[in-house]
Amino acid sequence: MRTASPVLVGRAEQLAVLDAALAPARREGPSVVLIGGEAGVGKSRLVSEFTARARGAGARVLTGGCVELGTDGLPFAPFTAVLRELVRELLLERLAESGPVVLLIEDAHWADRSTRDLLAFLVSRQQILDGVLIIVTYRSDEMHRTHPVRPLLAELGRLSWVERMELPRLDRRHADELVARILGREPEPSLADDVYRRAEGNPLFVEELLCSDCDSGLAAGVPASLRDLLLVSVRRLPDETQEVLRAASAGGQHIRHALLAAVTGLDDDVLTRALRPAVAANVLTADAQGYAFRHGLIREAILDDLMPGDHTRLHTRFAEAPGAGARALGQGARRRTVDRREPAERAGAGRPGGKDRRGERAGGKVRFRSAQGDRSGRRARPRGPAAGDPGLAEEAQRHR
Ligand SMILES: Nc1ncnc2c1ncn2[C@@H]1O[C@H](COP(=O)(O)OP(=O)(O)OP(=O)(O)O)[C@@H](O)[C@H]1O
Ligand SMILES: [Mg+2]
Repeated sequence: MRTASPVLVGRAEQLAVLDAALAPARREGPSVVLIGGEAGVGKSRLVSEFTARARGAGARVLTGGCVELGTDGLPFAPFTAVLRELVRELLLERLAESGPVVLLIEDAHWADRSTRDLLAFLVSRQQILDGVLIIVTYRSDEMHRTHPVRPLLAELGRLSWVERMELPRLDRRHADELVARILGREPEPSLADDVYRRAEGNPLFVEELLCSDCDSGLAAGVPASLRDLLLVSVRRLPDETQEVLRAASAGGQHIRHALLAAVTGLDDDVLTRALRPAVAANVLTADAQGYAFRHGLIREAILDDLMPGDHTRLHTRFAEAPGAGARALGQGARRRTVDRREPAERAGAGRPGGKDRRGERAGGKVRFRSAQGDRSGRRARPRGPAAGDPGLAEEAQRHR
């Protein structure tokens, strides 16, 4: 429903860090705070709250934002806004003489090369910016292993005057408070539970999932406004990776490697190779047992995007997957999926654009070999080490 909370919820700790960083900026040269956090977690809200306070305390605030422009954005985009202000105010140093200055660079994950270079220069040569506090925000969920901003952050983070901060999701108490602030009333316990289970404390997701016209007060599927944000890093992945993710999405929030191998019919190595880019891109996290989606709504968005036929096929695969039955994994996966899909499908049927969106994903059908039979449902010889292999139980143990 996208009504924002009129007050900032929580974040006392982070505001204290920023306040402290502004204090030495007044006395003995700049400090720098690098604020990372996943999309929608509240970086901009936090810094806007802080800069409002800083302004109130007499600081001058200069803000520039990086914009997403292809692979290497517009040179100096965030700095042009800042520099324009600088020209008007003569020089930053002169400004700093008359009071503290906060230089805020937002969304540095989109910083082009020139911006990165200038940022490195400004931060590392603090003496030219006496009395200036630099705040940089970036999406940590976009910081995949080869992201060009990643080494810059690591390098800057080693400087003694630079503080790195990872803004976490809201905890349960603050997430409940956010719901109450947005609604303007205490939510029913079941609504608060459902919001927390699905939004996992991400304030943007909380805002978007709350739905004043829905019976339950909660959007049934993934709101269209969130879909692109959730799927952006998924769509950048190789086709074969996306295909495995579609299968994984039907298996629950966490899925064991062995079960996924059985369901996809892929060899261990092939499966690992297919999933590596998803882990590197922060779509999945890997542990000793298997994989988890970084956020449950990413899984929901992928699940929502499946073709109707994919659902049936995947449910069958999960139910038939050797080793899944004993622990009722297939059942569990199936039950969870069905639970989620029922309301989603009901809503999806009447959702504008729902059909088109599915139609757009041409050729994106899940095309795995069946673990135990071919696609016509006939039994076939098991293929791959995991498929129908009596060794699967051992394999599952190994990954457990
Ligand atoms: N602590 C909070 N209290 C109340 N509302 C919040 C809080 N944090 C975030 N919000 C709200 O959640 C929404 C998303 O927050 P915000 O835009 O700050 O996220 P972000 O981390 O900057 O995301 P992005 O990476 O997309 O820029 C906004 O509407 C914001 O007002
Ligand atoms: Mg932001």
